Amino acid sequence: MVAAGAAAGLPSFFSGCSKHSEPANVPFHSAPQFSSSEIAFPKGFYWGTATAAYQIEGAWNEDGKGESIWDHFAHTPGKIKNGDTGDVACDSYHRWREDLALMREMNLNSYRFSLSWPRIQPSGSGTVNSKGLDYYSRMVDSLLAARIRPFVTVFHWDLPQALEDAGGWPNRDTAARYTDYVQVVAKALGDRVSDWMLFNEPTAFVDLGYLEGEHAPGRKSLFDFLRASHVVNMAQGAGFHALKSACPTARVGTAFSMSSCEPASDSDADKLAAERAHAITNVWFLETALRGRYPDGLAFLPETVMGIKAGDMEKMRAPLDFIGINLYYRIIAAASGAMERATHAEEWLFPVKMEGGRQGPKTDIGWEVWPKALYDMVLRITRDYDRPVIEITESGCSYNDGPDGGGVIRDERRIAYHREYLAALAKAMAEGADVRGYHAWTLLDNFEWAEGFGQRFGLAYVDFKTQKRTIKDSGHWYGRVASENKVPAS
Ligand code: FCB
Repeated sequence: MVAAGAAAGLPSFFSGCSKHSEPANVPFHSAPQFSSSEIAFPKGFYWGTATAAYQIEGAWNEDGKGESIWDHFAHTPGKIKNGDTGDVACDSYHRWREDLALMREMNLNSYRFSLSWPRIQPSGSGTVNSKGLDYYSRMVDSLLAARIRPFVTVFHWDLPQALEDAGGWPNRDTAARYTDYVQVVAKALGDRVSDWMLFNEPTAFVDLGYLEGEHAPGRKSLFDFLRASHVVNMAQGAGFHALKSACPTARVGTAFSMSSCEPASDSDADKLAAERAHAITNVWFLETALRGRYPDGLAFLPETVMGIKAGDMEKMRAPLDFIGINLYYRIIAAASGAMERATHAEEWLFPVKMEGGRQGPKTDIGWEVWPKALYDMVLRITRDYDRPVIEITESGCSYNDGPDGGGVIRDERRIAYHREYLAALAKAMAEGADVRGYHAWTLLDNFEWAEGFGQRFGLAYVDFKTQKRTIKDSGHWYGRVASENKVPAS
């Protein structure tokens, strides 16, 4: 829809992810927003990291794996910075035992990872590739043996290309294919996996993939964005019930991209714009699941264009057991002017201009560090949805620090980031939020979508020439936090 404030570091129009902008020269932290004293977390709190199949596995065409939209997109010249691809990535398909050893060294007790649909069902329907399932099955067994909770994302963006060729997410049939796939993985892993996420950041992949064209499959169509929104919501409802019927005791949620949305001024128009931004950015796939309705984000709901049929609102309901929050930064929202509304179809439907904040320091990808966004968002979700169980399924920062002469990665800014976001989270919990875990994005430097290998978010450094992994100072720090179940004073 309307262009995002890229210069201000807003990753994308609606979503929480992956558009780069130049970092501003703001010194790291003048004054912390939250307490800098020691903070204890509740017993049993999950300390984890998160990854995604396409970003780490590599082995893009091994052992019967089918092509995904990300293979296809990355193999198309000009789509990814520097011509990078996820063909090899961190080679975790072969080196997953090393990755597990990193987690053990960091004392983690939860690992959020995703299943590659085309590794399991190469063409997105029918035949199941047992080698693909075996890979995940072995990993689940080893995680359990290491007393690390397998926290599984069913879909983190790598749709089988065959399904894209048949119309992709805007095609209603894709929801049925997704439901079959959910049944396959629930049957294969549900005896050992009890915590699942149906989707990773639906707003991000529907927006960036179908409207902005910056992510796979690279379409730029408002129509496709609207259709895909509804099909993914239908898939979430059907997938939830499929998973629950295969594994009735499973805990099932989704990892939503969220950003607190602040009005650019005190005007009523900007306040309305901020509420619209919240509806689309944060709850476009949540209000549907929990309340069976679309939130009031658009000037009107284009039901016919979205392909909404009688009975759909009931079918997309999914009483999620927990709400996963991926949060990196905040959004500043302003109302579009009359001229913009008149000249752009998208702004006519969604009359909001959004950009990232400009007060905090920027990470190397250009995203503003703003811990209060996590505090605000966690409390808002707690209030608006009757104190649901929440998991922080992602938060993290890109800083491209490399090894010094002695091979040590001194990434102090990453330690400060996680420290402050955790302090913000602890305050929200003290004020009533029921949060069960925190997953740092990410375990190890990896393929950052359209940014290729240019942005390092990992707690462990990866030398992409040798695939050698080295835990950064932040990883050692996070390991102490996990083992002591508290954040030390800064
Ligand atoms: C999130 C994505 C994740 C990663 C981080 C940096 O939006 O879910 O895969 O790219 O951003």
